[in-house]
Amino acid sequence: MKDVVAIDGPSASGKSTTARMVARELGYLHLDTGAMYRAVTVACLRQNLPPQPSPQLDLLLDELDIQFDREGSGDQRVLLAGEDVSGQIRSPEVNAVVSSYSALPQVRKRLVKLQQQAAEGNNVVCEGRDIGTRVFPDARHKFFIVADLKVRAERRRDELEAAGTAADLEELMAELARRDKADTIREHSPLVKAEDAIELDTSNLTIEMQVERVIAHVKGRSA
Ligand code: DC
Repeated sequence: MKDVVAIDGPSASGKSTTARMVARELGYLHLDTGAMYRAVTVACLRQNLPPQPSPQLDLLLDELDIQFDREGSGDQRVLLAGEDVSGQIRSPEVNAVVSSYSALPQVRKRLVKLQQQAAEGNNVVCEGRDIGTRVFPDARHKFFIVADLKVRAERRRDELEAAGTAADLEELMAELARRDKADTIREHSPLVKAEDAIELDTSNLTIEMQVERVIAHVKGRSA
């Protein structure tokens, strides 16, 4: 079996940046599963499908076409039926409801299968909420990345400001706390640390330090 590095943790914990940089450094494929749940959410919103089981949802999932565009050296783009939805999947509308769609067992079943297929034959760094517990329970390396709520909200605010959007820290903290709760208490594949995952608290770490720790561990164990 190829090497799998599983990185789980709550929103804005630094998972994505860490996963992207670790994948680049190791030459592994980067699989951002949160982007897939976000793309399904965009598809459902476009069809006015509420977050509940329905035949229309089953059909949408059957026909779902999500691709990652890995061309070039820039950020990975997310394509929904060929259309670039990289910006839309990070919109406030999607942030507000993605937890409701990702709690649906139909959605999870379909996406877990797509994630496992995407990893076939590849060395991957896969990030999400249930990677070490459900998607790749046999992953050789598992990390659970956490950080204080305030630190996470500050990081999100800085990201938004860098992109030219003003954001209120208190509101961001409330939004993150709400999403953490929804992801943690849901019935199907809740956000939980796998027993054999290494917990990494990044509250006081720079991105470089986080990446270094993950890489050191992966190389140590792979050697
Ligand atoms: O990592 P993110 O913020 O982009 O994830 C968006 C949402 O998708 C998040 O609220 C929880 C859900 N998600 C999930 O349920 N399982 C995953 N493996 C990844 C994300």
